[in-house]
Amino acid sequence: MDANLHLDAPGRNGTAHVRHLTRRFGPADARPVLDALDLDIQPGEFVALLGASGSGKTTLLRTLAGLDPVPEDAVVALPRPVAVAFQQPLLLPWKSVWRNVALGLPEDARGDARARAEAALAEVGLSHRLDAWPATLSGGEAQRVALARALVREPGLLLLDEPFAALDALTRLRMHALVLDLWARHRPATLLVTHDVDEAVALADRVLVLAGGRIVLDLPNDAARPRRRDTASFAAMRDRLLDRLGVREHAA
Ligand SMILES: Nc1ncnc2c1ncn2[C@@H]1O[C@H](COP(=O)(O)OP(=O)(O)O)[C@@H](O)[C@H]1O
Ligand SMILES: [Mg+2]
Repeated sequence: MDANLHLDAPGRNGTAHVRHLTRRFGPADARPVLDALDLDIQPGEFVALLGASGSGKTTLLRTLAGLDPVPEDAVVALPRPVAVAFQQPLLLPWKSVWRNVALGLPEDARGDARARAEAALAEVGLSHRLDAWPATLSGGEAQRVALARALVREPGLLLLDEPFAALDALTRLRMHALVLDLWARHRPATLLVTHDVDEAVALADRVLVLAGGRIVLDLPNDAARPRRRDTASFAAMRDRLLDRLGVREHAA
């Protein structure tokens, strides 16, 4: 393992456990993007993370995904494996759909790669596209392939960085239902980064706001799913989050 990559074993009971995570870019006296951030995600919990553009959401996800180094004095202890899907599906254009999904498998699981990729693609409703080329997929289909590639490794922690942001509104709603369905079936701890407050309130057990490098608001939501968006409790939670994000226009 990369010596820089100093990732601890998962916390007690498989909790994803982050303590004192500081990340800064540029000079040592630059203002940190993440400033001694603490975060816990329980096994099977669905957490959404909101924050203004540039607040450090992707920086946090990249660190949890093991793509960026963890500083020596931070603790990052995660249930493994960790899988990640980004706003862009990032499929390899020269590999068929099922081979792109098989890329999500660890080296030692490549023997039954085709069967496992087929099963993951069936779960996202793409059994009919196994041998298709990425260039022939719609945006929603490509993002479903990216989800299948993340799920095929049966992650203990699923990281989603604005995975629906580039999709049209109707496709986005369908993807919400699909992600909830997959989460309910596999139950990975999930951290969904989004800038869409309604998406966060509709999907997550807990909604966090990242600002000034830390989690500044942490709101549980135990409403049953699927959630109606036209209820008073939904609106109340949306308002609290918009207030904290500083984007609500206050009625006089
Ligand atoms: N590799 C990098 N080098 C320099 N600055 C970076 C790098 N990655 C992110 N940043 C800066 O860190 C801040 C947070 O970025 P990011 O985590 O992408 O924010 P978000 O995903 O919340 O929009 C931004 O100011 C961005 O310019
Ligand atoms: Mg980002």
